[in-house]
Amino acid sequence: SGGRRSLIIANWKLNGGIDLMCTSIATLVGKEFDTDIAVCPPYIYIRDMLSLLHHSEVQIGSQNVSKFESGAYTGETSAEMLKKVGCSLCLIGHSERRQMFRENNISCNIKVKNALIHGLVPVLCIGENAEEKEAGITKDIIFRQIDEGLKEIQDYEGDVCIAYEPVWAIGSGKSADPELAQEVHQFIRKCLKEKYGAGFAQKNRILYGGSVSRKNACELLEKPDIDGLLVGGASLDPEHFLQICTQC
Ligand code: G3P
Repeated sequence: SGGRRSLIIANWKLNGGIDLMCTSIATLVGKEFDTDIAVCPPYIYIRDMLSLLHHSEVQIGSQNVSKFESGAYTGETSAEMLKKVGCSLCLIGHSERRQMFRENNISCNIKVKNALIHGLVPVLCIGENAEEKEAGITKDIIFRQIDEGLKEIQDYEGDVCIAYEPVWAIGSGKSADPELAQEVHQFIRKCLKEKYGAGFAQKNRILYGGSVSRKNACELLEKPDIDGLLVGGASLDPEHFLQICTQC
């Protein structure tokens, strides 16, 4: 869509163990893909996954990143560490982190800038929850998440990724209707254009996440402003994820 190469990301969240992860990576390694593919395991497995890639183009990402660079911040992992170990991208501001770990647009913005400075692609997750959707304020929420989350990054055309994940669609089996998702993606691109110009809006990828499966993946990817997918539950079944990555 729009000359942008699609990107499909598996977000394993806090699931599985080393066995499942090795099987999943083995299922992807050695295959040819028409899209970029990335996997985000828990931090502890990142190095294991990297060591199993064997020159495969599959990318490894983290599910979070610290807003701090280094120092006395127990439990944190920096963008520089992730980049140096071989990660290509990091998820930032996933709705689960916003809900349960007090992430907000301001902390997300610090993380986005940190990631970019160290050469990691930030995948900023945004999206409205069920009440906000009911109240008809989806676009206001999204505008704010973009405006505040993507401050001061005008120099990074093409290096930023946004994942639209309506909170009500995550893990619910109720994916957004592709038409509706396209409408929001189009709005996100418009926000990017107004903020940083047409080139920025044109080059950066906008992914959809929320109950993606082999049943709806192709229909979503066909939409002009949907440049990829962020897959949770379905990515825990290696064959299912492979099908999502190859079938469209
Ligand atoms: O980050 C992906 C995730 O939040 C979507 O989860 O299980 O609805 O595909 P799921």
